[in-house]
Amino acid sequence: MNNIYADHNATTPLCREATEKMHKAMEIWGNPSSAHRPGRLANQLLNDSRESVAQAAGVEPLEVVFTSGGSEANTLALLGSFWSSTERPFRLLTSRVEHSSVRDTVAFLQSQKAEIQFITVERPNGELCWNEFITQLADFKPHLVSLMAANNETGVCFPIDQISNLAKEHQFLLHTDAVQAFGKTPPSVWNRADFVSLSAHKIHGPKGSGALIIRSGKKLVPTHFGGAQEIKRRGGTENLIGIAGFGAACTVIPQESTFAEMARVRDHFEKVLLDRLPQVFIHGGKSPRIPNTSNIRFEGIASEVLLGALDMDGVSVSAGSACSSGSISPSHVLLELGLEPNLAKQCLRFSWGRTTSQAEVDTVAELVINHVQRIRSRRAST
Ligand SMILES: Cc1ncc(COP(=O)(O)O)c(C=O)c1O
Repeated sequence: MNNIYADHNATTPLCREATEKMHKAMEIWGNPSSAHRPGRLANQLLNDSRESVAQAAGVEPLEVVFTSGGSEANTLALLGSFWSSTERPFRLLTSRVEHSSVRDTVAFLQSQKAEIQFITVERPNGELCWNEFITQLADFKPHLVSLMAANNETGVCFPIDQISNLAKEHQFLLHTDAVQAFGKTPPSVWNRADFVSLSAHKIHGPKGSGALIIRSGKKLVPTHFGGAQEIKRRGGTENLIGIAGFGAACTVIPQESTFAEMARVRDHFEKVLLDRLPQVFIHGGKSPRIPNTSNIRFEGIASEVLLGALDMDGVSVSAGSACSSGSISPSHVLLELGLEPNLAKQCLRFSWGRTTSQAEVDTVAELVINHVQRIRSRRAST
């Protein structure tokens, strides 16, 4: 039985550095806000972790606000911007392929009379419709733009660095959900946004820990009140153990040479499938993508059938974003790429990790090829 994990966009295994640091952090039980010695020890751990996250993200330590993860960071960025702005109606420009934590917050803001415009993505490659975006900047004049740095389902990247170049001229604040881009792209491509969402468990840190980067001078009304923690930007006693694990995971975050190796392994996997199987389609295959993600449609094969067969082989993949699995409706991201609902249910996401070997990828490719050929030939003979 294999044990190959190809679902790193859903979550990643805890790295040794994070595990060890969290064990040590369990003995540091003081409250970081207390003035006595146990409190100072806890505060030291908090600040060390803040420095590690800041260094990995290429920002200043005081720009890091710890949260319970990427979803909270997204919610804080959007609600906090809305509440701190005096502009009404508040205008928000976003895309149709964002993570559900952005989509649901946007829906709430709509109910609060914010005006929302959605930029579509190019079909079928998933890139941001640049002309539409430029037109909307001029016509709609958004107060806030929220666009993800990398899509969790297809891996396709939006040009956040180019967009941040336009922020001053068009006077908008920029938020980016960099949860999937962090640790898979250089920070310089997304860290010039005013607000940046990060999550620890996508970079081999613990679940329930993340951060919103709030660039210096940018203000947000908090979504959590009740204390002066995080310089009054997020009230509540900090999750010190989770934060310690996040900081430790940041100390071993991959560098650019690893991204290139990850892309090589991923591209090899896709090439083997394309060479050996007809009617296989890679979503965003020619677009700028994070280096670990392949979203693939196998014509005529229901995703849950292939997913189940691979699971029996000991290979873990995903049929969409983990947050929407269990629901039978096709992924909103794939529908936005122009796929008919029945075709959107023929897709699997393979998301490799930084330690995935070519041998593992070769094993998965062989298993996929065998299953697809078997299922297709059985169908042909009935
Ligand atoms: C793009 C993106 N944003 C946000 C999140 C939410 O992060 P968290 O699980 O830390 O709340 C996820 C998680 O799947 C994600 O992929």
